[in-house]
Amino acid sequence: MGSEGLRWLLLGLCAVLCVSGRRARYTADWASLDARPLPAWYDDVKFGIFIHWGVFSVPSFGSEWFWWYWQGEKDPDYYLFMIKNYPKGFSYAEFAPGLKAEFFDPNEWAEIFEASGAKYVVFTSKHHEGFTNWESPTSWNWNSVDNGPHRDIVGELAAAVRKRKSMHFGLYHSLFEWFHPLYLSDKDSNFTKQDFIRNKLMPELYDLVTSYKPELIWSDGDWEAPDTYWNSTEFLAWLYNDSPVKDVIVVNDRWGQGCYCKHGGYFNCADKYTPPELPKHKWEKCNSVDTHSWGYRRNMKLSELMDLPTIIKDLVYTVALGGNYLLNIGPASDGQIPVIFQDRLLRIGEWLKVNGEAIYSTKPWRVQTENGTVPVWYTSTSSAVYATFHTNPKQFSFQLFVPKTSENTVVTLLGNPNPLKWAPLHSSGLVMLLPDLPSTPAEAWVIKLEGVA
Ligand SMILES: *[C@@H]1O[C@H](CO)[C@@H](O)[C@H](O)[C@H]1NC(C)=O
Ligand SMILES: *[C@@H]1O[C@H](CO)[C@@H](O)[C@H](O)[C@H]1NC(C)=O
Ligand SMILES: *[C@@H]1O[C@H](CO)[C@@H](O)[C@H](O)[C@H]1NC(C)=O
Repeated sequence: MGSEGLRWLLLGLCAVLCVSGRRARYTADWASLDARPLPAWYDDVKFGIFIHWGVFSVPSFGSEWFWWYWQGEKDPDYYLFMIKNYPKGFSYAEFAPGLKAEFFDPNEWAEIFEASGAKYVVFTSKHHEGFTNWESPTSWNWNSVDNGPHRDIVGELAAAVRKRKSMHFGLYHSLFEWFHPLYLSDKDSNFTKQDFIRNKLMPELYDLVTSYKPELIWSDGDWEAPDTYWNSTEFLAWLYNDSPVKDVIVVNDRWGQGCYCKHGGYFNCADKYTPPELPKHKWEKCNSVDTHSWGYRRNMKLSELMDLPTIIKDLVYTVALGGNYLLNIGPASDGQIPVIFQDRLLRIGEWLKVNGEAIYSTKPWRVQTENGTVPVWYTSTSSAVYATFHTNPKQFSFQLFVPKTSENTVVTLLGNPNPLKWAPLHSSGLVMLLPDLPSTPAEAWVIKLEGVA
């Protein structure tokens, strides 16, 4: 190699090393952590599946808050359910062996999630009951390997989801545990002690990240104590600087009292939060097919479930406003995803197969919604604008007022092979000629507009 070649090689090396060497390290404070750009994969994926599964799936009554309503609040519904159906003195811990997971097949779950069109999965590694769905060394006998199914549920699911290259794997994790003695004693100290953090929470969080390398941590159960008790900023600084997932990890905003909607990665704000207009910060709406519960409950009624058109509307609205949509299902204690949930997921997938280009990797447009012939919701890419509508106009002419057309404008209905005939309106917008709308159980159709501003 000539000296010229050597010079270029050194320059090239410096370009790599000097830049990476200069990359700032995050410090354990919100100003620094909040400035971290969200890894790009997250905004592209748009649609994910949330799974609540734990010991609460065994009584499967009321909601995943069963233990709390029963023994914390002593809610009469739960209390009576126990008196009627279980022997006197039966404890919550005695439900755990019933988490048998006889039919749990992680590959089947992953196949269903993939068929739904979801691009990420968020699974409860541990809910507020404290039962860990992996062999946590700090959750002795209250974990899925030493008890219940005797399987590493987190590990098996992570492997199955990752085998399908289209999906990212994330973990839900509750900071607090309703009845953990160390937590209760820290709470008694007005959170001036951190015994629970030192002996339970931190070992567990580090173990989760290093063992399973999740690409997303969906933190929860933060609201009773400030982030300084949870040591959230210290944990996040490690996660962003030094963890094995530092370049890909995405987190939400539940890291201590007063954090949500303010600090962290993307914002969840409250459960099922739906902003009225386009937020400035990346956000996610979580919602549950069973409107009364996140965990499986045997006493659910069909009328309490979101139907397919409602789900699709919610997804489209969320994406038009720049959010991701995380849709929850609760598998049963035997590991089976109730077939009614399977049906919802598969039909979402059918709709996305035709209309997914209006969802995945889109950006909010300059206008989010308008009332044309019927109300539409807009999304966009660099080459197209998409207008999704949920009302069949039952007429052939269809008007939109906001898009500015040009000579090059091409209008199509997704799923329909031929471009639509259209004409500009005299002030702004266009009128197009719709074909018979293809029937879809989702009751949502997408008009694609190319060459509009
Ligand atoms: C508990 O701590 C908070 C601040 O962390 C303080 O405002 C409050 O007065 C304390 N309460 C008691 C009972 O010490
Ligand atoms: C929490 O972070 C502080 C500041 O870095 C540290 O002094 C403390 O030991 C940490 N507590 C635990 C339980 O890790
Ligand atoms: C569309 O019409 C609905 C119902 O009349 C109204 O609530 C909404 O504000 C309108 N939206 C726009 C963008 O004008």
